[in-house]
Amino acid sequence: ASDIEKDLAQIHFTEDQIQEKLRELAGRIEQDYEGKDLLLVGVLRGAVMVMADLARSFSRHVEMDWMAVSSYGSGTKSSGVVRIQKDLDTDITNRHVLIVEDIIDTGLTLTWLVSNLQSRKPASVEICTAFRKPDAAKMAVPVKYVGLELPDEFVVGYGLDYAEKYRNLRCVATLAPHVYS
Ligand code: PRP
Ligand code: MN
Ligand code: MG
Repeated sequence: ASDIEKDLAQIHFTEDQIQEKLRELAGRIEQDYEGKDLLLVGVLRGAVMVMADLARSFSRHVEMDWMAVSSYGSGTKSSGVVRIQKDLDTDITNRHVLIVEDIIDTGLTLTWLVSNLQSRKPASVEICTAFRKPDAAKMAVPVKYVGLELPDEFVVGYGLDYAEKYRNLRCVATLAPHVYS
């Protein structure tokens, strides 16, 4: 096994499973947005892989733009208090916006982001996420396009990081205990 593969305990989803699910989501999105322009908004940095693969699964034109947001406050991961680190370069007034995320955990960041984007008077705002954890069910905002459901475990790969590493894995996996020690 390669260096990075030695760090993995259990693979939750393989590259093939992820790609198949993204093609299925892309098909639904293509149908739903037929005849409409579409702006995909990726949330840096985790959504880079999903955006690249989802966008290339379309046979139609799409535009892509990016936002970087960070939640801060008590030091916990998502406080719901969010700061924009990089805003869109695109004016989304009257545009159909689809937010592209790698994973929804608590959903706090995305709840804030949807209301922020709504205030800019787009034609529509929907969410597409490759993965979702159980807590996301408590989210106030409905998620229109959900890929694969994950258990409430810490996972890495396909954009998901542990201390900025493992994002470049093609699968999604849990880490072996030796990684944390
Ligand atoms: C991760 C992930 C989602 C968010 C989900 O991003 O990529 O964007 O957390 O968590 P939530 O549903 O509880 O808000 P992170 O803040 O780690 O930044 P990153 O994308 O740069 O890794
Ligand atoms: Mn993220
Ligand atoms: Mg992260």
